[in-house]
Amino acid sequence: MPKPRGALSEWLVARLAAASPEASRGPAPAADSRDDEAIALWTLHELSYRGFEDASDRGEREPEVLVVRHLLEDALEDRLRSRWADEAGSADPAPAADDVPAALEALVAADDGPSLADHVRRHADVDQVLEMLRQRSVYQLKEADPTTWVVPRLPTRAKAALMELQFDEYGNGDPNRLHAHLFARGLESVGLRSEYGAYVDDALPETLELNNSLTMFGLHRRLRGAAMGHLAAFEMTSSIPARKIAQGLGRLGLDGAMVGYYDEHVEADAIHEQVAAHDICGTLAEDEPEQAAEILFGAFTCLDLESRVAGALFSAWGVDA
Ligand SMILES: [Fe+2]
Ligand SMILES: [Fe+2]
Repeated sequence: MPKPRGALSEWLVARLAAASPEASRGPAPAADSRDDEAIALWTLHELSYRGFEDASDRGEREPEVLVVRHLLEDALEDRLRSRWADEAGSADPAPAADDVPAALEALVAADDGPSLADHVRRHADVDQVLEMLRQRSVYQLKEADPTTWVVPRLPTRAKAALMELQFDEYGNGDPNRLHAHLFARGLESVGLRSEYGAYVDDALPETLELNNSLTMFGLHRRLRGAAMGHLAAFEMTSSIPARKIAQGLGRLGLDGAMVGYYDEHVEADAIHEQVAAHDICGTLAEDEPEQAAEILFGAFTCLDLESRVAGALFSAWGVDA
């Protein structure tokens, strides 16, 4: 399990440790900080992915622990929704169902957050690139997994389209083409660790919040529209940045498997963005019109979280982006 970052995560790690079931029997303490909250929720969510060697698998469904998960997710969702409400302001937050792909394009086009890809392409040094890859590894080593939870919750057309996209993310049946595995090989090629979760203790609070949001959207049927909007914005902002990152890696002499990972995304995500915006989000909004506003909320949240991670890295590096 990760290193605790405060009273709540310390309680949680002790509570989940299979070796000390009697530890931390009392109620969970309040979190000391946003960082403490974020690592606690990340730890709770991981129990629904591959878990931990040193945590009881039963923790995923233990009532006392579920209460903590519930409270942390509610607080996270409130924060995300209020950021979207601030952004949307008095603008109409609910486009007509057949306007959803265009509304997604407009949202992505209006995004003026700081660009890690531009920095990597032209200016970043090797240490900065490795730091970015360590942060990204928290998600990329389980790439596409949170989205897979949404499959059974979708109507027919969106479900078929999502499976088409996911099949590609999972390597079209070839383990060597699985995107998470390509990223793991890329990490090794640049001298970083590739084991699942290796860099969680280095994750910035913004990185954890990005991961927690994606997992929360995937796990809750109620949030399926947000999950698909997040996916669309992610795919729509991936292809060109992937090319820039591949160029930056080449500039720094970090060619090899990590360039291969990004090259793969230049082509794949140029297709995925169409599938996600039109075939998934467009048809979902036509079939379930009340999801239109949720799709835009999820898309905004993706862009917002990505730019907060980029902003945090730029400020740590003293870069004026
Ligand atoms: Fe991918
Ligand atoms: Fe993709």
